[in-house]
Amino acid sequence: MNTVTVRGDLRAMVRAWRLRGERIAFVPTMGNLHAGHGDLVARARKLADRVVVSIFVNPMQFGPNEDFAQYPRTPTEDAALLAKLSADALYIPDATDIYPAGYEHSTFIDVPELSNILCGEFRPGHFRGVATVVVKLFNLVTPDLAVFGEKDFQQLTIIRRVVADLCLSVEIVGAPTMRERDGLAMSSRNRYLSATDRAAAPAIHKALQIARRRLESGNRDFANIEQEGGGALTAAGFSLDYFAVRDSRNLQAPSAATTEFVILTAARIGKARLIDNVCVAAS
Ligand code: PAF
Repeated sequence: MNTVTVRGDLRAMVRAWRLRGERIAFVPTMGNLHAGHGDLVARARKLADRVVVSIFVNPMQFGPNEDFAQYPRTPTEDAALLAKLSADALYIPDATDIYPAGYEHSTFIDVPELSNILCGEFRPGHFRGVATVVVKLFNLVTPDLAVFGEKDFQQLTIIRRVVADLCLSVEIVGAPTMRERDGLAMSSRNRYLSATDRAAAPAIHKALQIARRRLESGNRDFANIEQEGGGALTAAGFSLDYFAVRDSRNLQAPSAATTEFVILTAARIGKARLIDNVCVAAS
């Protein structure tokens, strides 16, 4: 596996592949890789000749009181895992390669309609930071396709919208959430959980499954489903940001005619803020 740290080397490598007519897949990450990332890379491997993975803890998507400084950074272990997974290249830039001197954040990508709701309400500016860095990374890697986890469902929806609205020529592939045996969605932030908080954490998956069954059985009292789910998480010791039933195509409140739902939640316990979701197709 080739490790590159500067954009010139990345571009030269990708150009050589392109000249040979090779198809390039991209998996953007913030590192501290786990089996969920492994699955994204394995999917990318099946869909293209070359797989590029980036590791960049993007300062622009963290709020002033968030965990940018504490975010786990494990580059040596990450590189070993990626080599095992047969990734072709790891792009691990420092901040100046992505935000050169003089970049004042005055050029950015924003989708307010999708970015200011749900997690965006609690993390102002987060999705602007995500969308901006993802477009920058797309412009640097120039992949044919990029793989993102469905655990960050709002992020995935925003990226799909940006790609469609800006006519970017990259195919976006969503990958199902990887879970621990007790249902907890895999996440780098799970390492913030104490033993007691870890024991409580599967309540999130459980509450989502109950809500899913309500929708599947024809219940359309969305407010009640949200209250029940949020109440279960509060009872399990979480401080709730939201538990919401939405139309999965646009993240807006569903109507009686909606048939494709997503139930999303974000809740805090101890030092961790956990997110998860489940999609429900109902007739
Ligand atoms: O999902 C993530 O890890 C990040 O938000 C991403 C897409 C790598 C952008 O920094």
